Amino acid sequence: FTQSSTTMEHHSAPRCIAFFLLPLLASVHYAQANPGRGSIHSIFSFGNSYADTGNFVKLAAPLLPIIPFSNLPYGETFFGRPTGRASNGRIILDFIADEFGLPFVPPILGEEHNFTRGANFAVVGATALDLSYFYENNITSVPPFNSSLSVQLGWFQKLKSTLCSTPQGCRDYFRRSVFLMGEFGGNDYTFIMAAGKTLDQVASFVPEIVQSISAGVEQLVKEGGRYVVVPGQPPMGCIPIVLTLYASPNKKHYDPGPGA
Ligand SMILES: *[C@@H]1O[C@H](CO)[C@@H](O)[C@H](O)[C@H]1NC(C)=O
Ligand SMILES: *[C@@H]1O[C@H](CO)[C@@H](O)[C@H](O)[C@H]1NC(C)=O
Ligand SMILES: *[C@@H]1O[C@H](CO)[C@@H](O)[C@H](O)[C@H]1NC(C)=O
Repeated sequence: FTQSSTTMEHHSAPRCIAFFLLPLLASVHYAQANPGRGSIHSIFSFGNSYADTGNFVKLAAPLLPIIPFSNLPYGETFFGRPTGRASNGRIILDFIADEFGLPFVPPILGEEHNFTRGANFAVVGATALDLSYFYENNITSVPPFNSSLSVQLGWFQKLKSTLCSTPQGCRDYFRRSVFLMGEFGGNDYTFIMAAGKTLDQVASFVPEIVQSISAGVEQLVKEGGRYVVVPGQPPMGCIPIVLTLYASPNKKHYDPGPGA
């Protein structure tokens, strides 16, 4: 469940990650250019290990004796201590917050934070599909926590009443928020692959996963969201653990890659 961990500030980070950064940053620049920097007052983030700023470690602390993200080298390059990010430095969300002049987006779980300027619902290992969906499809290697996209949206609904009180008031509030919906899906594919499905079988889950992400975006728009960033799927086959787990002697199974 840590397959999608990122080390954004590591110099030897795989170059293929850049492919996924570009569309993301492009959308952010659009959002920024559009409403103007000062008119965005909050950021709400949904996702997995690309975006988690401390929720997973809060969930895992009572259960796991050792949590990698609670130990160095996680956090070493910027914060100087582990922060619960699955990165040795800042994650993309931190740079986005910086761009808007907002504080780093605090995790929803754990300490009582002031969420007026935003909240982060992302959890390492989170999936677009619900746990029940995996169980129904006999996929038994699942995320350790009930933290799927819809569960994260449930946490958002609970928080809402502390931020605004009337339907119109809430829509006005979220009109000036940036929402990050994802990246979602990478972990879904990882868990489905781990269940021994063929590539064709994995592909048959794509519509369901896309549908779940779209439904999430639509809900945010209904809440008044005007700036919703939906990062695409990074080339997950480039992630070292995937390259290792699914190594193939057949060169045709590999793209030329950005370095070729
Ligand atoms: C939370 O932060 C906002 C804006 O930064 C501030 O106006 C508000 O007073 C804070 N609320 C509490 C309870 O500290
Ligand atoms: C899951 O496994 C059960 C028991 O082996 C079987 O009856 C069911 O059809 C399977 N469901 C799917 C979606 O493969
Ligand atoms: C996950 O949490 C949701 C919302 O609290 C709940 O409806 C669902 O039953 C839970 N799923 C599992 C498998 O525990």
